[in-house]
Amino acid sequence: MSNDILTLLMQHRSIRHYTNQPLTQTEVTTLVTAAQHAATSTFAQQYSIISITDSAIKQELGTITGHHWLEKSGHYFMLVADQHRNLKIAEKANADTTILRSFDKFLASTFDVAIAAEAIVTAGESMGLGSTIMGSILNHTQRIIDLLNLPELTFPLLGIAIGHPAEQPDLKPRLPQQLMHFSNQYALPADFNTQLAAYDATTAAYYANRNSHLKQTTFSQHIVQELKRDPQLRAELISVIKKQGFNVK
Ligand SMILES: Cc1cc2nc3c(=O)[nH]c(=O)nc-3n(C[C@H](O)[C@H](O)[C@H](O)COP(=O)(O)O)c2cc1C
Repeated sequence: MSNDILTLLMQHRSIRHYTNQPLTQTEVTTLVTAAQHAATSTFAQQYSIISITDSAIKQELGTITGHHWLEKSGHYFMLVADQHRNLKIAEKANADTTILRSFDKFLASTFDVAIAAEAIVTAGESMGLGSTIMGSILNHTQRIIDLLNLPELTFPLLGIAIGHPAEQPDLKPRLPQQLMHFSNQYALPADFNTQLAAYDATTAAYYANRNSHLKQTTFSQHIVQELKRDPQLRAELISVIKKQGFNVK
């Protein structure tokens, strides 16, 4: 089965090098509008988008994420979990606001941000733009809260660098569906190890032959390598989420 949208979705790759052409205001507004039309849990629209245009802030985000290339993107969005706006609405009505602070609402904001992020990525790709979602902003969330003046019941979740692509990376091969799509019950197949070995061979060939950043690794090795990250790096996360007013434990 094929159509323009399926083709676009199946051609996705993250883009980390951009021409120096900035996005126009119309492009920025269009991307935000596309995000706004994405599904939103309980129609609470519980996220906000901050366009980062200040070069000093971009530079600091480059340091926090380790991705200084974001400073050369055509535009940078910060997507923020936001129950603050709804707190204002609830307070105006003298309503009990306890639920806005719940883990459930924090999760709902997380879903909203993730879905909005994908809408921006896909809308951007349909406009000839390329992007990278950045979870690495979580490396130092308190610094980002201070930089962006984020109030109570907000929390920075994802950045998105977007721009006119100056690279066309090879498509990253995904898992065989037998290892991630099940029927009715969770069930890894009996030949899990064989299928994984085949996928490891596919990913090893991809990493060894792709058109940039060649390396010798497999999907399994990549998963294990990721576990070696310094656990202290994001040790502040829970305490910062709490400090912002969310009741997480
Ligand atoms: C929630 C999320 C966070 C991500 N964070 C980063 C990041 O901080 N830095 C980065 O270079 N890529 C980041 N990525 C991009 C992934 O590395 C990328 O999607 C993955 O390697 C698959 O490659 P592809 O998007 O080119 O298919 C993130 C993607 C998602 C969905």
